[in-house]
Formats: sequence, C-alpha cells, structure tokens
Amino acid sequence: MNHAQRNRILLILAHIGALLPLARMLADVFSGNYGPDPIREFTLRTGRTALTLLLFSLACTPVSRLSGFKPILKLRRPWGLYSFFYAAVHFAIFIGVDYFFDFALIQDALLEKRYAIVGLLTFSILAVLAITSTQGWKRRLKKNWKRLHRLAYAAGILAIVHFVWLVKPGVVRPWYYAAVLVILLLLRLFPGGRGRRRLAVPRGGARQARLPDPLVDK
Ligand code: HEM
Repeated sequence: MNHAQRNRILLILAHIGALLPLARMLADVFSGNYGPDPIREFTLRTGRTALTLLLFSLACTPVSRLSGFKPILKLRRPWGLYSFFYAAVHFAIFIGVDYFFDFALIQDALLEKRYAIVGLLTFSILAVLAITSTQGWKRRLKKNWKRLHRLAYAAGILAIVHFVWLVKPGVVRPWYYAAVLVILLLLRLFPGGRGRRRLAVPRGGARQARLPDPLVDK
C-alpha cells in the first residue's frame, strides 16, 4: 500500500468515526431507544460529540509533532467541520425542539442562562471557523487566517466553560475535557519532539524564527 492509499484510508476512517455518533443517534431515534427525556438525551450527546471532535481537531498538530506522523494534519479541517455540524444540531434541538421556535422564550433563555450565552459564543466562533476554512478564505485572509483560526482554542475553552456551568457542582466530567485541553494548550505553548527543532533560531542570524501554527502548518 502506498502513502496516498494509506492517507485515503485514514481520511475515510476519520469520516466514519465522526459520523458514528450521528448514526447511533438516528438508530436510537428510529428504534425508540432514548430514555425518558429524549430532548435532553440528544442535546447532551450532540454537545459532547461537538466538544470531543473539537479536541480531536486541536490534537492533530501536537500528535503530528510528537510522532512525526504528518498525514494526521489532514484531519484537522474535517474534524473541525464535524464539530461545527454537531454543535449546529445541538443548537437546532435547543431552539427547534426544546423551545419550538418561540423566539421570545429563546431570547430569554439565551440571555438569562450564562451557560447558554457562552454556548452561543462558542457556536458563533465555530461557525466563523467553518465558513473561513476553505482555500479561498485562506488566500483572501493571508496571514490573518492563521490568527483567526487560533480562535479554535478559544472555542475549546468556552465550550468547557459552557459545560462546567451547566453541570451540578461536584460533577467531574467536564474536568476530564478540561485536562485534555490544558495538555493541548501546553503542547501549543511548549512544542516538544519534532516541533521543537522547527522553533530553533537558525544560525547565522536569521531575523526571527517563525512560530509554527498548530492549526495551519503542514
Ligand atoms: C449554540 C448555543 C448553545 C446552547 C443554547 C446550548 C445549550 C445546551 C443545553 C440546554 C445543554 C443541556 C443542559 C442540561 O440539560 O443539562 C447543553 C449541554 C452541553 N453542551 Fe451546549 N449549547 C450550545 C452550544 C454548545 C457548543 C458550541 C458546544 C461544544 C462545542 C456545546 C457543548 C455542550 C456539552 C459538552 C454539553 C454537556 C453534555 C453532558 O452533560 O454530557 N454546547 N448545551
């Protein structure tokens, strides 16, 4: 098997992995296997999947740097887009199913609950990142594209704040996600392994070493 075939299989597996939670949810909807509170059940599941895929997308660069396995960088965009997709379904369940498009109620809920405000902010960031993730926007925004796409880390932090604020005090689940994000942020700030060499200032006085960006550098 050559490299191109191996990379293709990796990409296919990444798509399948990202679509599995959706397939499971649809299977549960059609088989009636969703417990006493289906709206809450699917809100929680889509929220968790959106956050997990966002962390997967953010993990690609450190994993590639530490392992030297570059093809994984190709998964950042699809996993980021899937994260946005699940967040959109999560939000759609909230406004369409939970509040039945009653916009006055939705507005109250969004403004009254601090976790909902942070959720909306996270969703807005993911939407901007999804829209500008194309080659066309990359060309148009030039250097600013990298700056803009660093907001993926802000989205990760805000999604975890959203999670922490909506669970009862003492529930530890959000802190597992927080721990993963802290590790990813530390790896971003202090790249080790093969990434460290790319940060070294070249001998002979190059003006400035360029910091590689985890979201866009291939
Ligand atoms: C668009 C605005 C958003 C609204 C209005 C919203 C609303 C909600 C609601 C109502 C819940 C369930 C609360 C409960 O019944 O316990 C929830 C849970 C959750 N949401 Fe959001 N959310 C939004 C955006 C997001 C985004 C963008 C993410 C991730 C990227 C996210 C991740 C989560 C997670 C991880 C949970 C908890 C799942 C669990 O407890 O297992 N949410 N959200």
